[in-house]
Amino acid sequence: MKGIILAGGHGTRLYPMTQAVSKQLLPIYDKPMVYYPLSMLLLAGIRDVLIISTPNDTPMYERLLGDGSRLGVSIFYKVQDTPRGLADAFILGVDFIGEDSVCLILGDNIFYGQNMTGVLKDAINNLDGATVFGYPVKNPKEFGVVEFDENHNVISIEEKPEKPKSNYVVPGLYFYNNQVVEIAKRVKPSARGEIEITSVNNAYLDMGKLKVSLLGRGTAWLDTGTPQGMLKAAEYVEAVQSRQGYYVSCIEEIAWRRGFISTEQLLKLGKELQTTDYGKYIISLAEEAMSQ
Ligand code: DAU
Repeated sequence: MKGIILAGGHGTRLYPMTQAVSKQLLPIYDKPMVYYPLSMLLLAGIRDVLIISTPNDTPMYERLLGDGSRLGVSIFYKVQDTPRGLADAFILGVDFIGEDSVCLILGDNIFYGQNMTGVLKDAINNLDGATVFGYPVKNPKEFGVVEFDENHNVISIEEKPEKPKSNYVVPGLYFYNNQVVEIAKRVKPSARGEIEITSVNNAYLDMGKLKVSLLGRGTAWLDTGTPQGMLKAAEYVEAVQSRQGYYVSCIEEIAWRRGFISTEQLLKLGKELQTTDYGKYIISLAEEAMSQ
């Protein structure tokens, strides 16, 4: 399975913060926002990643993450000239995807919780068409909203409806088989002029091949769409890290735990960042493993 991180867009809702810098490079507490979605792909065991961003910002992602070899993975880059919509990821990513299935994660979506690895593995191992998730929120109008019948079967997904038919919305984490490339090519722009991921999901639904897995209370899906959302997300990450001592979305740790890099490589990565608590955490993981 391939992984795509969509990290473009104008970020206008966060101006002036995003006038010069890509939204997904802004910090959420102690690391760039893009680390969080990247960590999800690594957790899922995905080792081929495509990052899509704007002409101005793509070189900055390359500077941050390089070719991925330091993490034992391959990271590729693709420029999106204008934000045509989320389904554009599969059109821009056609060569990268090849014959594979693909996981798309939005660069501003942060997930954290118990058994995340299990949720991801389950989605990959049981993929038959498309798997997306349902998550209850208080402000469903702002998202893709799932409509269920009385037996909890999915009837439709509506993008930003005026009158949401449930409070379950679809977060920015999607798993598709290879058909998604052809489906994305056929999607017509919506009223807001975008080729919507919701149209892709409805195409799978029409074929009887859309699975909506509900994420429970134990999973945090954090909003980064407003300055207040960013602050709250940062506070959440800080609280977990300082209370438990485990880091949230430390990409070096995940790459190591997944077996993509050795303990020696982990130690080297930690030493490069040793002036920070983040680096010291990585060093402590490596030293503890070496002492056993
Ligand atoms: O976050 C989940 C929601 O994401 C879903 O519930 C919706 O169904 C889905 O349409 C999407 O809604 P948003 O309105 O939040 O998407 P937005 O336009 O803000 O784009 C999400 C991210 O993707 C954002 O960080 C910018 C980036 N992006 C967006 C577009 C349209 C791109 O990189 N390229 C694009 O063409």
